[in-house]
Amino acid sequence: MKHILGVLIMMTLGLTACTNNGGGDSEEDRFVEDLLGKMTLEEKIGQMNQRTGQWEMTGPAPKTDGSQQLLDDLKQGRVGSMLNVVGAEATRKAQQLVVENSRLGIPLIFGYDVVHGHQTMFPIPLGEAASWDPELARLSASVAAKEAAANGLQWTFAPMVDVGRDARWGRVMEGAGEDTYLGSAFAIARVQGFQGDDLSNENTIAACAKHFAGYAFSESGRDYNAVEIGGESLHNVVIPPFKAASDAGVATFMNSFNTIDGLPATASSYLQRTLLKGQWEFDGFVVSDWNSIGEMIQHGVAADLKEAALRAIKGGSDMDMEADAYLSHLKELVESGEVDERYVDDAVRRILRIKYRLGLFDDPYKYCNEDREKNSLLTAENKEAARKVASESMVLLKNENNILPINKDIKSIAVVGPLADDKDSPLGNWRAKAISNSAVSLLEGVTTACGNDIKVNYAKGCDLVTGERTFSNILTFNSDDRSGFKEAVKAAKKSDVVLLAIGEDAYQSGEGRSQTDITLSGLQVELFDEIYKVNKNIVVVLMTGRPVVIPELAEKAAAILETWHAGSEAGNAMADVLFGKVNPSGKLPMTFPRSVGQIPIYYNYKNTGRPSGNEMDNLWSRYTDSPNTPQYPFGYGLSYTSFTYSNLNLDKTEIQPGGDVKVSVTVTNTGDVKGKEIVQLYIRDEVAAYARPVKELKGFNKIELDAGESKEVTFTLGKDELGYFHPNGTYVIEKGSFKVMVGSNSAETIETSFVIK
Ligand code: NOJ
Repeated sequence: MKHILGVLIMMTLGLTACTNNGGGDSEEDRFVEDLLGKMTLEEKIGQMNQRTGQWEMTGPAPKTDGSQQLLDDLKQGRVGSMLNVVGAEATRKAQQLVVENSRLGIPLIFGYDVVHGHQTMFPIPLGEAASWDPELARLSASVAAKEAAANGLQWTFAPMVDVGRDARWGRVMEGAGEDTYLGSAFAIARVQGFQGDDLSNENTIAACAKHFAGYAFSESGRDYNAVEIGGESLHNVVIPPFKAASDAGVATFMNSFNTIDGLPATASSYLQRTLLKGQWEFDGFVVSDWNSIGEMIQHGVAADLKEAALRAIKGGSDMDMEADAYLSHLKELVESGEVDERYVDDAVRRILRIKYRLGLFDDPYKYCNEDREKNSLLTAENKEAARKVASESMVLLKNENNILPINKDIKSIAVVGPLADDKDSPLGNWRAKAISNSAVSLLEGVTTACGNDIKVNYAKGCDLVTGERTFSNILTFNSDDRSGFKEAVKAAKKSDVVLLAIGEDAYQSGEGRSQTDITLSGLQVELFDEIYKVNKNIVVVLMTGRPVVIPELAEKAAAILETWHAGSEAGNAMADVLFGKVNPSGKLPMTFPRSVGQIPIYYNYKNTGRPSGNEMDNLWSRYTDSPNTPQYPFGYGLSYTSFTYSNLNLDKTEIQPGGDVKVSVTVTNTGDVKGKEIVQLYIRDEVAAYARPVKELKGFNKIELDAGESKEVTFTLGKDELGYFHPNGTYVIEKGSFKVMVGSNSAETIETSFVIK
């Protein structure tokens, strides 16, 4: 009985979420309702169908190969959106086909993966998150939006707000790392950066929070794999950045390929209807991921495409990307009564609403301005912004004897390594319309910075990748050609300092780029060892799309600067940091493990019943061959100056549930140069109904201090920070004691406590 009642309540909720037309009487509501009223069922279904352009793929080849079929579908109003059609001219042509031929002339919406820049590339999102500066993310997203809009687009499939704890999963490069709080702050900034405060502004585009939900928890880090996640982690770790994006007014959501506890996210009415469209009152639309509706057949939850369409529409997927499921089957499903037409109306209403907000009904060609396009891409101003964001994203992991910043009095510098003069990898994966080989390489940046004063000795040393490198190729790595070693060793031997550029190729991370081994590929560590024999002053300039395992470098390198894939201005930004024009302030948004076997490793783990223990003790929760601790913890990063923390105070030691505590701390720059510090606030809910993490980030603040200067930094902990979700999704603030920890990274904090009574 109880069960039946539950089902009835869920159904009612589902239908409410489905039939909600905004209830308003705005001009927008009237326009949308009026248009919807004129549409035939076929025309409605056409709006729910998204097709890729035939000339660029970001997924397996489309089923409909005949461009004639696509042309017919466009002309007949059987396509509501296209992806992978870019350029003012190309989008104008496609738009014309629809607007001039279809009965109602409803304009297409053009989407594209504009992930970290459009043609001017910014650091990969993981790198950008290392800046811990959401304002920079807002800036890069707004520049990307401006370029994309000038290039014919009005919708990006970004930001990816998946919280990721497994560096084997290649897509961690697209997100903001392992933390929910930091991830939510970046989700909001990126949405606002892309969308501005007015979608109809010709410089803004619609954003898309993806992948709803759980995708980064793919088992064993293998892309597209099943996700098994309990309610507690789902609600506390995975969902909050999506909620933040929804609250920030994101126009669209994308669901995800994976199953969650057996149910494909694409069919999840709990996620898409109960939460998103119901509780969160999201009024935009949900696009499926590439053929994720069709893939429900492989998942084994739909016998055929028709059943997949049925499950997807009921689950709340409004637009079908590339499965052709809605176009082929939705009409018969509605006519047979298996799908209530109100589901279709709801989806179409949402799609029309976003098109309306973008101003497409006023002028379907407003993003197709060739003159604007000519002057908007890769401008000097945009490159300047990219350089700034890149330099703020770099993380100094090691700096023995202050070898950095490079002393301008040195006579010579070796720039060595397979990535040293690579003008392509710094562009990263998911590079939208970046021009191949257009990045400033490390060699170029350093050569400019050295001018005539310091001699630069370059040698590649070895190749990283053998064979062709493209978005769709699986890479192979050089494991036997050491012919360049000699020259590299020679360059190192005659130089005062060696900059060794190693790490990952751009196409080593991103979609479909999972790896079981995240140590450095090919001969890179061997090259390091050979150079180390002749010169110990090695500064490793790491370029990676994920945390990597680098125990030898951590032990032996004089310095390590993690630069990620830093974008168009990579080499200049690296030089800015290496020579001290910019004092590094980035902090890791994701833990660097000591070994792959520690994965998943993240700072906000839950205690075991047998925590830590003495190294020699048996039967404690530890490895017998490795410490539990990571190589570099979450939040970690050095500066060319040093900071101390003191006077950690709370304004109260007892509060009521729902009350606030003010936290203050004094931070002092104890070094010789000006620097920025990211002050991090963590809490631990010490006794709760469900075990809480040993530490949870609940605030951060990036401050700049002159040498010798002190500042008081304050935070407020209130109801949004002090509660958590029970596994059923209920948010609860529980009584008991809380630890408050403040410091420069998740492993080095000072602490105090208070009680909720
Ligand atoms: C598949 C990816 O998972 C998704 O993130 C992307 O937006 C689409 N392909 C479109 O390229």
